[in-house]
Amino acid sequence: TETEEIRKGLAGVVVDYTAVSKVNPESNSLLYRGYPVQELAAQKSFEEVALLLWNGELPTEAELQEFVTFERSNRALDENVKAAIDLLPKNCHPMDVGRTAVSVMGANHPKAEDSSPEAELEKAKHLFAKFPAVVAYDQRRRRDQDVVEPREDLDYSQNFLWMTFGEEAAPEVVDAFRVSMVLYAEHSFNASTFTARVITSTLSDLHSAVTGAIGALKGPLHGGANEAVMHTFHEIGIRKEESREEAAARAKAWMEDALAQKKKVMGFGHRVYKNGDSRVPTMKAALDKMIEYYGRSEMLGLYDGLEQAMGEAKNIKPNLDYPAGPTYHLMGFDTEMFTPIFIAARITGWTAHIREQRAANALIRPLSAYNGPEERHLS
Ligand code: CMC
Repeated sequence: TETEEIRKGLAGVVVDYTAVSKVNPESNSLLYRGYPVQELAAQKSFEEVALLLWNGELPTEAELQEFVTFERSNRALDENVKAAIDLLPKNCHPMDVGRTAVSVMGANHPKAEDSSPEAELEKAKHLFAKFPAVVAYDQRRRRDQDVVEPREDLDYSQNFLWMTFGEEAAPEVVDAFRVSMVLYAEHSFNASTFTARVITSTLSDLHSAVTGAIGALKGPLHGGANEAVMHTFHEIGIRKEESREEAAARAKAWMEDALAQKKKVMGFGHRVYKNGDSRVPTMKAALDKMIEYYGRSEMLGLYDGLEQAMGEAKNIKPNLDYPAGPTYHLMGFDTEMFTPIFIAARITGWTAHIREQRAANALIRPLSAYNGPEERHLS
């Protein structure tokens, strides 16, 4: 019958080819343009990974230098982007700020309607360079702090943290942040990337596609999970003076209770990976370094307690958002800023997919099976 062919949530449906990344749940691996993400996270800057995702190859030294020069000189926000952000209430969700900012940036861009591969790449690089300032600007305005201008002598991750906190971050912190950006950069046909491809498939522009993708990323079943993980930690209660064991015991009890109430606990489970998310070990290692750097072993207790209890009860493994949330918390970001950081990273993957969709486009327009009232008529 018609209904038997419906694949709810497009689960298991292959929609198109992509050469951007390969997710292999069997071997628990993720490749960006053929390179294992763990190797990239260990050895490459986020700037190099961005060029790899866009161009298909790692940059030469000259290509990298050219991009770094462009990126460093295009970081400042336009005045009308700042003005648009200022019009939004300070208590709106920061994802709304990110979505609005990208929309305004699109309206500003002189090549907004030019979808040639060259213009599209330039727009992607532009967004890459500017989005960190949106996150930093918004984080600071929520704290009633003055704006910190970007610094051209700092790399992407150093400058992101500089603009947000107004001080130079320690190398360990910069490195953990860089690792998170590399791991968040790309993940095949996830909901937000697919959204970007759907929008692109109508021949709409790049900024519209990214704006739509941000809307999809906001939800807690997708990017919003990194924020939701932190809400769980806060609900359990973060007690700095507590031992690792005490924290783990409380976290386990919380999880057992949550599962008894049939709650979905954010940061666990994945549509594609059923035996663990390939990105988690690398991100967990970065979190471990932050826990050591900040001397916060009780956070590890909470982390282990939840993971163990979920494993024992349901054999469901953590996803990337689980170690990423507490990492950003330790760095000093407000919880609501975690998903906007994810935007900054995923702009690379989204725009790589937008370019790929554009190059071999077919309008994405699936069918539906009607289950409403039979035909009827107005009397
Ligand atoms: N907590 C409790 N139970 C869970 C969870 C969870 N996080 N994830 C899956 N399950 C259970 C679910 O209740 C269901 O059980 P049952 O068969 O008894 O009804 C079973 O596992 C299958 O789950 P599903 O939701 O039907 O599977 P799915 O493939 O549609 O779900 C998912 C994938 C990511 C939406 C889901 O695991 C989930 O909601 N996780 C929490 C949100 C989250 O962490 N999202 C981030 C995803 S990865 C990074 C990203 O994209 O940002």
